[in-house]
Amino acid sequence: MIHYNSDTRTFNLTGQNSHYAMMVDGDGRLLHLAWGPTPNPVTGHNRFTPPGQSSFEFQGQRHELPAYGPISVHEVALKVSFPNPSAPDHPIRDVRLVYTGHEIEENAQLPSSSSSLRTPHSTLRISLTDSLQPLIVTLCYRLFPAYDIIERWCELTNTGPDPLAIEKLDFAALHLPPGSTEVATVHGAWAAEFTAQRHVLPVGSFSVGHRSVQTGHAFNPFFLANRPGHATEESGPVYFGALAFSGAWQLTFEHQHSGDVRVFGGYNPFDFALTLPSGKTHTTPAFVCGVSGEGWGGASRRLHAFIRDAVLPNAAPRPVLYNSWEATYFALSHEGQAALARKAAAIGVELFVVDDGWFGGRRSPLSGLGDWTVSPEVFPRGLQPLIEEVHALGMQFGLWFEPEMVNPDSDLYRQHPDWVLHFPGRPRTEARMQLVLDYGRPEVIDHIFNALDAILAAHDIDFIKWDMNRNVTEPGSVAGKAIWRAHAAGVYGLMDRLRQKYPNLALQSCSGGGGRVDLGILRRVDQVWTSDNTDALDRLGIQEGFSLAYPARIMEAWVTHEKNHQTGRVLDLSTRFDVAMRGVLGIGSDLNALSEAELADFAGYIAFYKRFRHVVQTGDLYRLETLAEQGASTWLFVLPDQSEAVYSVAVHDHLIGRHRAPAALRGLNPTAVYTVLDRHDRAIAHLSGADLMAQGIPGDTFGPAGYSRTLHLKIIK
Ligand code: DGJ
Repeated sequence: MIHYNSDTRTFNLTGQNSHYAMMVDGDGRLLHLAWGPTPNPVTGHNRFTPPGQSSFEFQGQRHELPAYGPISVHEVALKVSFPNPSAPDHPIRDVRLVYTGHEIEENAQLPSSSSSLRTPHSTLRISLTDSLQPLIVTLCYRLFPAYDIIERWCELTNTGPDPLAIEKLDFAALHLPPGSTEVATVHGAWAAEFTAQRHVLPVGSFSVGHRSVQTGHAFNPFFLANRPGHATEESGPVYFGALAFSGAWQLTFEHQHSGDVRVFGGYNPFDFALTLPSGKTHTTPAFVCGVSGEGWGGASRRLHAFIRDAVLPNAAPRPVLYNSWEATYFALSHEGQAALARKAAAIGVELFVVDDGWFGGRRSPLSGLGDWTVSPEVFPRGLQPLIEEVHALGMQFGLWFEPEMVNPDSDLYRQHPDWVLHFPGRPRTEARMQLVLDYGRPEVIDHIFNALDAILAAHDIDFIKWDMNRNVTEPGSVAGKAIWRAHAAGVYGLMDRLRQKYPNLALQSCSGGGGRVDLGILRRVDQVWTSDNTDALDRLGIQEGFSLAYPARIMEAWVTHEKNHQTGRVLDLSTRFDVAMRGVLGIGSDLNALSEAELADFAGYIAFYKRFRHVVQTGDLYRLETLAEQGASTWLFVLPDQSEAVYSVAVHDHLIGRHRAPAALRGLNPTAVYTVLDRHDRAIAHLSGADLMAQGIPGDTFGPAGYSRTLHLKIIK
């Protein structure tokens, strides 16, 4: 519920288990009052008195949107240069915003998503106007009470005759309760995405971000924060936030000497420029934020449910996928793919995906990117016969694209050498032998749309794997510095157009693995490729970091070869399946290299996964044990009505002679009796929810590294 008290000029946003409050002070400034994990609105009586103007403390005032102006020497979310016609060399470079009005709207439809209709929400729009200059800043707060989440963004409107130069812009600034200095973020690289780090902020500023045109592997735009020592996996207040943006982004955590902690999230300030023409409005992407009283796990569960219900384009369960990349790499042929498809269908796969190499002159990473026509060399009869065969086998068909790239050795580049990001006269740096198309040019976007549209119109394609395999090094574009935003806008626009024209098409976001995962792309895709690293033990850490913000419902996880192609490590089939079954299960093994007995094992695991995937894909996740603390990763998914659960343990580090008590389960119905089923659907125990939450799964003590187990729990009717 959103409420405005006109006597105290106080706003209260009350969630199911949270409150967020602001007030307009005597000078018309909008100040932050409170945010916390209880649904107690701030009243006129208990509101705090902001520091006065007569001391240096004045600089510590918690302006909802700290703008560069008279109020602070600290970090700012907004900086603008206003032209000064009477003294052109003396532009006005500060902003002084005062409250001029607000409106509250119930269940307004999101512009970019139909999914918001699945869950109640209301939106508060507060208008702040510069006291002298022609700028209106509208702070927007969309409250989703069920998740204690607020989606925040701002809209900047130029009401004057001249363009305005926006020099710094965050989507929102978050004021955490003083002392909330313990922050968790993730960092990484190709094949090592989502490495979690948790540390206490010193006084000063700490930033994570990415300076490219995709979200990036280096960091991911989300955080969790709490007071040191006041939160655990399942207890204590934890604040969290995530950006809905796939361009150059930054999160800055500022810990002030006073103990105040602020989080600024928005456009990366490096090389940033935004010109706001007369009469125009710029709407930023969103900074989604929330609070949990149930620790880091509670924060993750809120984000997961919000993403499933209010971000993703649809709620349908995701099919079991086969991707032939690691089986065949570039050695594609109709016969080879059809043979794999027949085996995939026989073991229970539901979606068959042909990866890189099907088009143009793309016989290796050296050539062909950009030429999106089916290669007659690879598929002399075209792709449609393979697609028909896949459909006849009862599977959907998926195809790989990398629509933002071009190889210098391609017809597209030979025809349009200017269509790539570059600085004139400079060498064009190639990475993976490819260059990045200039999505600042509308004609490039149209060309790519038409190329993809032609393939989709001529073939019955159910799924696209949308890949993106390099960072930007020289961002020279006809769009100028706006390319840091325009590229992502181009990708979003293409995806939106394709989804509109082909409503049954599903999309996967991949950027050399998990390089483009964020709440912006998730409005348009159904799942993501988490990492090219499919080694199950490495995956435990990658998936644990991923799970801090993102739900299993989007986390594609493949079972690949016994000897892993990335790490060379040999792992049992059970470990590979147990870890992959924690997300959207995929198979990437060379099925031709497997014996009949091995194929039967694959089929058994896939059938097991299908019996419980609704629990993994829609249930609440409890991280019972974490790699950092126990050297084992134990996850429990529980359906919201507690009728079913999936228990998954995998041991990473084995210390000789060490035993541990089985992890206690959580979130079950204490008075119900559960039957515990193994992968053969055999009941191995019947235990009450209370017993399972007290003693765990009997006998599940520490095994050797690689020991793993998945169990399906159901209430006995
Ligand atoms: C990178 C992806 O992460 C892989 O799965 C595969 O699609 C290759 N690109 C193909 O070039």
